[in-house]
Amino acid sequence: MPKPAKEKIQEISNKLLYGSLDEAMNSALTCRQCQLCEGRNSVVFADGNPNAKLMIIGEGPGQQEDEQGLPFVGRAGQLLDKILASANIDRKSETYICNVVKCRPPGNRVPSLEEMEACRSYIEAQIAYVNPKLILLAGATALGAILKTKEPISRIRGKWFDYKTGAKIMPIFHPSYLLRNDSKQVGSPKWHMWQDIKEVKKALESLQ
Ligand code: URA
Repeated sequence: MPKPAKEKIQEISNKLLYGSLDEAMNSALTCRQCQLCEGRNSVVFADGNPNAKLMIIGEGPGQQEDEQGLPFVGRAGQLLDKILASANIDRKSETYICNVVKCRPPGNRVPSLEEMEACRSYIEAQIAYVNPKLILLAGATALGAILKTKEPISRIRGKWFDYKTGAKIMPIFHPSYLLRNDSKQVGSPKWHMWQDIKEVKKALESLQ
């Protein structure tokens, strides 16, 4: 018989390094576990509501995020805001947004496996303590880091998978990819994102 969600969360949080979300954040704020700490201005931990039912996980902070200390506030973030708003999802109150790595990789390169592993305890704590019902993985890096799959995002975006916490988890295109692919034609990345966000809204409503 599958374990009740509460029991599963307990089991997972027993393996966590931190006793609370605040403890994880405070540890991240002084973290020096990988070389990314050398060049950072800010540790970008999260934005939004820690009680949200919807969590969005991106790759890592860019320049704007590093300057402001908040995830998804640059061009990709502004597009993400528009995508959420188009489905009537309020970023501040209805989502909790974070990244696989909390410090900016130089030149916005993809974080290395070592850097992602060094940061893993934070994302694990965020998922366990926020305990969202729905998780969106924005882009291939978040997909690989969390679902540990090499499946191309174009093949599995828009599909719900079961995560170990009992949450439903869906890979979506990264907003930066949409910035580079502007077409809104049927079948284009933007068109797919629109289908996906409608599906997310439907799932959110069905939780209420
Ligand atoms: N891209 C990301 O993956 N995360 C951010 O916070 C900003 C841009």
